[in-house]
Amino acid sequence: MKRKSLFAALLLTFVFSSKLILAQDFKFAAMSDSRGSYEGVNTPVLSALVKHLLNKNPDVKFLVFPGDLVSGNKLSADTTQKQLDNWKKIMSPIYNDTNMVWPKIWLSVGNHEVQNNKDENLFREEFQNVYMNGPDDEKGLTYSFDYDKVHFVFVTTDRWHYSEADEGGGRDWHYVKHLNWLENDLKSAKARGNKYIFVMSHETAFPIGGHLRDGLPNLGNDLKLPLDSTRQWYINQRDKFWKILSDNKVTAYICGHEHIYGRESVDGVYQITAGSCGAPLYYFNPTMEDVNSRKYGWSEFHYQDALPYYKALNYNYGPKGNAQASEDFVGKRAFVYVTLKVTPKFVEVKTYGAYPKKDSDRIMGSKIQLLDSFRINNKL
Ligand SMILES: [Fe+2]
Repeated sequence: MKRKSLFAALLLTFVFSSKLILAQDFKFAAMSDSRGSYEGVNTPVLSALVKHLLNKNPDVKFLVFPGDLVSGNKLSADTTQKQLDNWKKIMSPIYNDTNMVWPKIWLSVGNHEVQNNKDENLFREEFQNVYMNGPDDEKGLTYSFDYDKVHFVFVTTDRWHYSEADEGGGRDWHYVKHLNWLENDLKSAKARGNKYIFVMSHETAFPIGGHLRDGLPNLGNDLKLPLDSTRQWYINQRDKFWKILSDNKVTAYICGHEHIYGRESVDGVYQITAGSCGAPLYYFNPTMEDVNSRKYGWSEFHYQDALPYYKALNYNYGPKGNAQASEDFVGKRAFVYVTLKVTPKFVEVKTYGAYPKKDSDRIMGSKIQLLDSFRINNKL
């Protein structure tokens, strides 16, 4: 009997341990868009958020950062290099943290890091600690890895394009180029038994404010309806991208580009925009109720001007509409970082941040506090 009890206890311990190995709780963090005017970075805001992150969330294992680290420079890759070196210095509390795991910060480019034809290689040289398992022309910019039965994929939505007609080339923005690679990557991640999947990229799939004209839908200026074939192509490409995420039960798509915080679920997948840890804050998409009631920057619209975009994007709008892709939208006009605690049954998301100082879009005006908290249930 005693031997049987001992065997049962050992078996239970083994089963319990196996469960822990399959889905151990761990926490990671997300930030995006830290560019600013202190050698390319908004140093005061980024430093304050990093300090808070390390003090209040010492159990974070690593940070994901999908682009626009620095302002960049169209004419001089050397200037961009200095800015990236400056950024790494500001992030040294994270790089020096002994609780975090290699490489501590996972990155991809934003549009600000691909302004010059030398910039892609510059980024690869500056941040060598990533996997080289992406498509041939996006190695070091698009890649994926598993961490404790959770799959992470970075897909670049901002590239440099060398055209035959113009060897000088130019920026190639606003779409996921290698959809087949992504689909195969997600399928094999599921086949390996991963319990959650997170996809990161710079451009927003469903613009929430400030980039209603671009992001992955990339509708452009002076929109006319019906959409012309170019604009329809971008919408189609965005739709194909999102269907791949939805079909493969991706937990969340984490992006930046829009300097604001927001989350909403579309076709079962959360888009989390963690768009400013320093970059000048935007306002949200205007609603019918706030016509002429607030100031707009160069990139934002008034409600009437936004209407054709809402129609093309099939957004909620009109009386009491939130003018976003989903009814469950929650957003804050604040500088933020997001933490995501992965547990066997759900991911607990907590967003910490500070509101801006009155009449400023780049200076903190409040203490850093908890701004949002929600759960995403396990789907795999
Ligand atoms: Fe951006």
